[in-house]
Amino acid sequence: MIPFARPWIGEEEAAAARRAILSGWITQGPEVAAFEQEFSAAVGAPHACAVSNCTAALHMALVAVGVAPGDEVITVSHSFIATANAVRQAGALPVFVDVDAATLNIDPQLVDAAVSERTRAVLCVHQLGMPCDIGALARVARARGVALIEDAACAVGSQVRGSSGWEPIGRPHGDIACFSFHPRKLLSTGDGGMLTTRRADLDARFRLLRHHGMTVSDTARHAATTLVAETYAEPAYNYRMTDIQAAVGREQLKRLPAMVERRRELAARYAALLHEVEDVTAPCEPPWARTNWQSYAVRLAAGLDQRAVMQQMLDDGVATRRGVTTAHREPAYPPGTWRTTNAGLRRSELAQEATILLPLYHELTAAEQDRVVESLARACARSRTT
Ligand SMILES: Cc1ncc(COP(=O)(O)O)c(C=O)c1O
Repeated sequence: MIPFARPWIGEEEAAAARRAILSGWITQGPEVAAFEQEFSAAVGAPHACAVSNCTAALHMALVAVGVAPGDEVITVSHSFIATANAVRQAGALPVFVDVDAATLNIDPQLVDAAVSERTRAVLCVHQLGMPCDIGALARVARARGVALIEDAACAVGSQVRGSSGWEPIGRPHGDIACFSFHPRKLLSTGDGGMLTTRRADLDARFRLLRHHGMTVSDTARHAATTLVAETYAEPAYNYRMTDIQAAVGREQLKRLPAMVERRRELAARYAALLHEVEDVTAPCEPPWARTNWQSYAVRLAAGLDQRAVMQQMLDDGVATRRGVTTAHREPAYPPGTWRTTNAGLRRSELAQEATILLPLYHELTAAEQDRVVESLARACARSRTT
């Protein structure tokens, strides 16, 4: 069986987890602080704040830029459900705009048309690791006076072309970028998340919000030689990362450049092999983007049955996943819980129905890749004739 994904994690991470456990400090403490520093250096962000997962990061980011009940947040339906859920968690109405058919990312032209007097933020997604057109989005957000938050859950290690050349996702290019360290992502801490920003005021707010609004951190209280009494500045959350997770994350961060390089190698090889496969379009990388290829999404030609192709591949011993879901077609999002623009969401729906994600992980071999593509070609041919 060729699995769909497999984290690249080993003895170094196990030793780091052991070090954290035996240190006697196991929740948010010195390892978290060190991971934050190393992560901010890696992406070139002045501030990084670690949290329990990316959904928590998105929620905190929205709250921190002032999103409140009655507001609207422009985003995509075509994303993992957590993107839309975070908007509703903040009490706002998601306004879904369609994606670009080639990049599967938010269409910046539609964002401008979706702005209303209630819009407080744009929440764009670097879907499957592919950077969206962040330059165009930043121009719209600035012109309209709304915050720009990047759902970079999948995009650690991706780059975008900016004024200084290739720049890592997470500097950030909007106001805040939010990352996930779930095992389907390149860098994993089991579960985990990170917010990056250039603004010290936002970073200070994240640190309050993730720890019950407490004004003194546990490490500061621990180090104090005179008695310190904390206060609780505002009602907040427990979104802490543990030191065990952070210790693992620090090791994973060292592997990141090699992870990206290997995935780009594998993706280039997939693209070459897929040239020969009728009925399948390989994903494209737009000129402003250098993706980490967190996932490799191929598009099936019209008339092919996505489920049948995936089942046939599973029968061949190849695991795949269907394309990104669309929140507006899920039972959790009945009419009235979101709105869209006149342009509708047809490209998002088509992308969901026609794309499948192929196995891609660090240790995937060339022979396994050949098997994946052979199986895909066979499955498409069979779907065409039934
Ligand atoms: C685009 C996107 N946003 C948000 C999330 C949520 O991340 P987490 O599982 O860390 O909460 C994911 C996770 O898969 C995602 O793919």
